[in-house]
Amino acid sequence: MITYVEAEAKNRRTSGVIPLHGEAGFAGMRKAGQLTAQALDLLVDAVKPGVTTLELDQLAYGFARDHNAIPATLFYKGYRHSICTSINHVVCHGIPDERPLREGDIVNIDITLIVDGWYGDSSRMYPVGEISRKSERLIEVTYESLAAGIAAAKPGNTTGDIGAAIQAHAEAERTSVVRDFVGHGVGQLFHDEPNIMHFGIPGTGALLKPGMIFTIEPMINLGRPHVKILADGWTAVTRDRTLSAQAEHSIGITATGNEIFTSSPKGWFNPLDARR
Ligand code: MF3
Ligand code: CO
Ligand code: CO
Repeated sequence: MITYVEAEAKNRRTSGVIPLHGEAGFAGMRKAGQLTAQALDLLVDAVKPGVTTLELDQLAYGFARDHNAIPATLFYKGYRHSICTSINHVVCHGIPDERPLREGDIVNIDITLIVDGWYGDSSRMYPVGEISRKSERLIEVTYESLAAGIAAAKPGNTTGDIGAAIQAHAEAERTSVVRDFVGHGVGQLFHDEPNIMHFGIPGTGALLKPGMIFTIEPMINLGRPHVKILADGWTAVTRDRTLSAQAEHSIGITATGNEIFTSSPKGWFNPLDARR
């Protein structure tokens, strides 16, 4: 027996071709992306020692409701929350719960808001109080890797160029790239073509063309790249229990480069900027 949501997901299985969006799509993504970024900005002050990830989830849900947006993860394949909260060695898809955050934790919050049918998907790292130098370094390398991937996202390059740029930076900094999760086409579907791997070989994969819209969302580990999924069926953790970090933007390929739909209205790229 399959659930309604699973049946719906099957109906909407992608066609296997990479959609090319026009100005209306870019306008829709700009609006959804900016609301998503506002939600992530709002969470900056809320993340502190003692707060629970369930409280952060409720804050995000309230923000979405107040702005006529729908959190895409709510009831997605049985997921029951508005955000994913991935703490320390959790790589991605951590489920909000009653555990209070502790000084020194690093947490990724991932949210996708649907506005007028368009999906703005983004995630950021949040330091909880004072964090260690090694956590700070991991966050810096993760944002630099995302920036390297975004810089490679332009017409004439390929999806493999994006992955190669991310991998080259992460590995030069003696960190590793998680292989098990990828960026994805986004737009009026949550997960569409193309897949964006965060590692790879330059010149391989799909040719990037103006109108393509997708996420780049590298997960970077201090230790080895391998992950396992916990018994809840969602939470991905590093096998060696070393720290992991992730950052995600939704972008669109333009004639000359790309547009980042989910950049912070406050101008924060690396969250460590917000505290300097
Ligand atoms: N937002 C995630 C992504 O970047 C997907 C989360 S699906 C969930 O693709 F069900 F785990 F929430
Ligand atoms: Co995504
Ligand atoms: Co996401």
